[in-house]
Amino acid sequence: MNVYDARRMADLLINNGYEKANDVSEADILIFYTCNIRERAAQKLFSNIGILKNKNTKVIAVGGCVSQTEKENIFRHKDINISFGAQAYHRLPEHIGEILSGVKNRILDIEFDQTQKFNHLPERQNVSFSEFVTIQEGCDNFCTYCVVPYTRGREYSRSASDVINEVKSLLANGTKEITLIGQNVNSYHGEAPYISIGQPKGTWRLERLIREIAELDGLKRLRYTTSHPKDFTTELMQIHAETPVLVPFAHIPVQSGNDRILKAMNRGHTAQEYLDKIIKFRNICPNIQFSSDFIVGFPTETEEEFEDTVKLAEQVNYTISFSFKYSRRKNTPADKMPGQIPETIKAKRLAILQKTLINSQIYHNNALIGKTQEVLFERRGRKPNQYIGKNVYLQSVIVESQNNLIGEFRKVYIEKAGENSVMGKIVK
Ligand code: 5AD
Ligand code: SF4
Repeated sequence: MNVYDARRMADLLINNGYEKANDVSEADILIFYTCNIRERAAQKLFSNIGILKNKNTKVIAVGGCVSQTEKENIFRHKDINISFGAQAYHRLPEHIGEILSGVKNRILDIEFDQTQKFNHLPERQNVSFSEFVTIQEGCDNFCTYCVVPYTRGREYSRSASDVINEVKSLLANGTKEITLIGQNVNSYHGEAPYISIGQPKGTWRLERLIREIAELDGLKRLRYTTSHPKDFTTELMQIHAETPVLVPFAHIPVQSGNDRILKAMNRGHTAQEYLDKIIKFRNICPNIQFSSDFIVGFPTETEEEFEDTVKLAEQVNYTISFSFKYSRRKNTPADKMPGQIPETIKAKRLAILQKTLINSQIYHNNALIGKTQEVLFERRGRKPNQYIGKNVYLQSVIVESQNNLIGEFRKVYIEKAGENSVMGKIVK
């Protein structure tokens, strides 16, 4: 979502007469956009300011979750002129203007009105073959470890017509793959463009939005992320089975495989309820694959409780996973819990879990050998003529080609598999 926000800021500033610098050393204005979901965001920010500011720098603006968390304290760093929240970046041109003209030398804007921002942004520019579209922001779930409800704000869904117009404009400009994003994307409930039977209170849920977007001309691949297990409906599973452009892949973070820890995390479901959804999903849509996020070393987590997480990971057999040591976040309930786990134990648990997760990843990579995959190529590889792309399951596929493949779909016959990628030949 920060990538998406940064792109929209760039469009906004270009629309206001600013130009993208060729190199950071030539920039008059530096904008840092931050995430503090885990450790050391503020330290990283301050050290990056030190590295990147130079004699040309006239304005330093800092935005996002670090701004939201630090509030006035951010100005302890003397070089920062503007600090803005994730819901206030539409006012950047105004703030930058005031600093440049000398009217002000410090501006703090961490207002929270999510409905405002999207109404003040220009149409998307410099469009790429693969784009994110924010459909939902913020979160009302208040998982006890998480800063998002406090930094991104309460849950807000953009109207369905706003989303569809943005997707249409991207497709008209050559985008092939769209990823609908939200902190809790499957709780989307945007204002409906027209009243339809069976939709409560004139809103569309994610299910309906996906059905509509899937019909749009030019769309080749549709993804959405991140889902909350408790909001994952049977209808959404069915849509995966019925909708060719929607990838047969779902990121459904489980965090822990132990019921006591899930409760302490305030996740709103048990391990078995999660597993039941996975099993049901596989029955409805046999080629579905999954990825997840995990947190190890949540306060009071015992060795046995941690092992439940490893067991769950083995049972589900995820294609891709993201796993983290629990990180204490200021002002969250879990930060105040007794029974914080020492770093050394967290590190040990993370290493054990990651071994299991990598084994699943290797299993899924090996399973591709001898199969043909549709790949959207994204970038060059390390060797000359190498190109790297993704299949529907977000597995990295490497090929050699004399032609530039970036932004192109190709069918690839997979010959070899490694830990983090597979290699193959383009099918003529
Ligand atoms: N510590 C560790 N991991 C966290 N995440 C969110 N908050 C924390 C935290 N305090 C992880 C969760 C979430 C992902 C985006 O980041 O796994 O799903
Ligand atoms: Fe954070 Fe996700 Fe929980 Fe919301 S659902 S509080 S964003 S971890």
